[in-house]
Amino acid sequence: MNNNSLKVLFACSELTPWVKTGGLADVCGSLPQALAEGGDDVRVVLPGYHSVLQHIPAPLFISVVKLPLGSITLCRGDLHGIQVLLVMHESFTNRPGNPYMSDSDRPWPDNARRFALFSQAVCEIAQDRTDLHWQPDIVHCHDWQTGLVPALLSQTDTEQHTSRPATVFTIHNLAYQGNIMIDAYNRLGLPSELLVQDGLEFWNQASFIKGGIAFADKITTVSATYADEITTKDFGCGMEGLLQYRRDRLSGILNGIDTDIWNPETDLHINTNYTFGTIDKKANNKKDLQAQLKLREDPNALLLGVISRLAVQKGIDLIIDAIKQLKNENIQLAVLGAGDSELQQQLQKLAKANPENVSVEIGFNESLSHKIEAGADVFLMPSRYEPCGLNQMYSHRYGTLPLVTSVGGLADTVIDINDDPASANGFVIKSANPVLLQQGILRVIELFKDKTRWRNLQNNAMQINYSWAASAAQYKNLYRQALQEPPKQ
Ligand code: ADP
Ligand code: GLC
Repeated sequence: MNNNSLKVLFACSELTPWVKTGGLADVCGSLPQALAEGGDDVRVVLPGYHSVLQHIPAPLFISVVKLPLGSITLCRGDLHGIQVLLVMHESFTNRPGNPYMSDSDRPWPDNARRFALFSQAVCEIAQDRTDLHWQPDIVHCHDWQTGLVPALLSQTDTEQHTSRPATVFTIHNLAYQGNIMIDAYNRLGLPSELLVQDGLEFWNQASFIKGGIAFADKITTVSATYADEITTKDFGCGMEGLLQYRRDRLSGILNGIDTDIWNPETDLHINTNYTFGTIDKKANNKKDLQAQLKLREDPNALLLGVISRLAVQKGIDLIIDAIKQLKNENIQLAVLGAGDSELQQQLQKLAKANPENVSVEIGFNESLSHKIEAGADVFLMPSRYEPCGLNQMYSHRYGTLPLVTSVGGLADTVIDINDDPASANGFVIKSANPVLLQQGILRVIELFKDKTRWRNLQNNAMQINYSWAASAAQYKNLYRQALQEPPKQ
């Protein structure tokens, strides 16, 4: 530790490799490590879910903490040298499976209570009121599950002064807001003073994410373009007015990726490792993938990969439509995903009708996700909005060219051959529109025949440095600024 180092408490609801439903887990698994490598003292606080405890046979007991919403036991596990504080309560420890949903794909009915309790625990740690004897300088919160933390901590502010750590709130996805009825809020016994128009109140509801947006000393999101987009009506999910008002506190920092896990040269999930220098070997992974998924083994078929939450956000409906329309082209589709049951059914129907050319795997499968990244020619991400997106960056690493919409982090990472031929690394369509996607795929089919140009794009893609170090340095800067911010008026 040096004089310049900060104590940072990272509060999150997912953490790769212990509990993951999407990119939030990957970010929370990597960024603390990158900050620690830069010299900061970082600890993560996470709910002690049933699934997490399977990875930690003997968590270290720290203390029992009494909170307004109940007692929790604070324990500790370690991940890659980072202390992970586990908030143990039966509503986390006794629920196997997904952290937010039951098996029937319904949110747990007590989610508001669970994450309010978690937020209260974070506030106790933040104020050094547990047996940890460690007071962070910064509490960095992520998404609605921790949105109450900046709000609750702000209650210690006076007009000139605050005795709490500075708060940073990162929006990974503004559409998930943690909104509850006012009655439900009151039943939780949460402070009524916070339930005001420039606080948690949101269209006659109480909004957890608004706690982060309205009260944090600094607000970030995961790309510069999404930071702009969310101040507009089209992408602001009703929060655009508040975000415009707090624009001076809002910035975008692009996510990095774990370049050890996502590395075609060393990836243990794939049979043939490769680099750009040995890019011809990528074809073996395509052959393996076609065989594993029982697709027709044709090196000339353009193999399109999709790994995604099956949600409206991701434009999966557009993909289904495009594949139907382009059924006479030599294309194949490999989908790995879970989520919306209607989309699942439509995808399965498509696969059943085209078994040689369409494969759909429903479920969460880390190993297959690596095989698709390595084996596909193109990765499809026609998202309606995308705060950052990680798979287009993983795809770049694997020389799998992304076809994306021009939104959020996709716009900030993918360069179309028509826009800048020299540095192009993929294909961009203007927006999530079925005709544009079909035209985009047709354009890619043509380019796929030109091996020299294709190699150039792969070369550009595989050279990009997506390591976390650059983003971590930006967060560190931001933390310093957060410490200077006066309390919210
Ligand atoms: P989001 O967080 O919106 O879902 P991202 O692109 O940021 O989107 O991150 C998604 C992450 O989850 C990636 O690491 C991706 O590989 C992974 N992922 C999504 N669905 C699956 C799945 N069914 N099986 C394995 N990994 C998945
Ligand atoms: C969210 C976003 C995704 C982003 C991820 C990690 O889930 O939907 O775009 O990459 O968070 O920040």
